[in-house]
Amino acid sequence: MMVGRKVGIVGAGFVGATAAYTLTMLGTCHEVVLYDINPDVAKGKAIDIGQSTSYSPQGTIVTAAESAADLKDCDIVVITAGVPRRSEMTRADLLMINAKIMKDVVGNIVKYSPDAIILCVSNPLDVMTYVVHKMTGWDRNRIIGMAGALDGARMAYQIHKKVGYGSGQTRAMIIGDHGLNMIPCPEISAVGGVPLDQIISQKDMEDIIDRTKEGGAEIVKHLGTSAYYAPGRSIAVMVQAILDDSRLVMPSSVLLKGEYGYNDITVGVPVVLGANGIENIIELELNDEVKAKFKVSVDSIQENINILKDNNFFD
Ligand code: 2OP
Repeated sequence: MMVGRKVGIVGAGFVGATAAYTLTMLGTCHEVVLYDINPDVAKGKAIDIGQSTSYSPQGTIVTAAESAADLKDCDIVVITAGVPRRSEMTRADLLMINAKIMKDVVGNIVKYSPDAIILCVSNPLDVMTYVVHKMTGWDRNRIIGMAGALDGARMAYQIHKKVGYGSGQTRAMIIGDHGLNMIPCPEISAVGGVPLDQIISQKDMEDIIDRTKEGGAEIVKHLGTSAYYAPGRSIAVMVQAILDDSRLVMPSSVLLKGEYGYNDITVGVPVVLGANGIENIIELELNDEVKAKFKVSVDSIQENINILKDNNFFD
């Protein structure tokens, strides 16, 4: 455990609370502060998670923020706030609502934790990560969108279901947006270092890719709400890598400045996570087919950013 390290979590819904619980069980940090628009939700969950630490040796302190001021001096702030789309909403309505929530949240983080690293988890993920960039004006290494960690975990799960071995040894690389245009990269994924094409047929691979892309939607179909265990665990992996300065390679949504031929867009690519947040962006050599898919993915994110621009959100 990194003694003295404080992680703020904005949004104490299923994802935020599961991230808090996971961090607490792993003993990743000294203190977790839960902040929610509904203080009672944050309080109830903080007490419950705090009581679970009785059986863990790390003794992480879990508190609820009474106000945004309690997010003071966090090393990392995870943003999970936002509303899901309801039937009467257009996509533009949802974007504007969540972007406005993000604006308020970011204002508080800039005020109370000006040196923090922000991990954005709110959807639509890549667009909200872009909003956080624009609202903070911080260096891009301190703003990271969590998506590839989760999508890669979903792909690894599908691979394990097919081959039946290599649990915990499967690393799956996914680039692009956190949506239907995401790009699973089987050619640079492996089970215990063994390339996938040596153990999985082309047909099975296609099935794995489809199931991965539908991974979030499949859970919504069963539960009627979004996933939270795998998202919570994925958040914890990234927080741990940053606090431990472990230089973990993880696809994450990051602001590109010329890499991959794009500028001023946030999209998932492999990065190195360490004490400074994003230590390095790894530029993969993409073949023409993947390049074309990457363009589709970037265009879909840009389209949403343009909706915000057309509604004067950034003015
Ligand atoms: C997921 O993919 C909603 O981003 C969340 O499950």
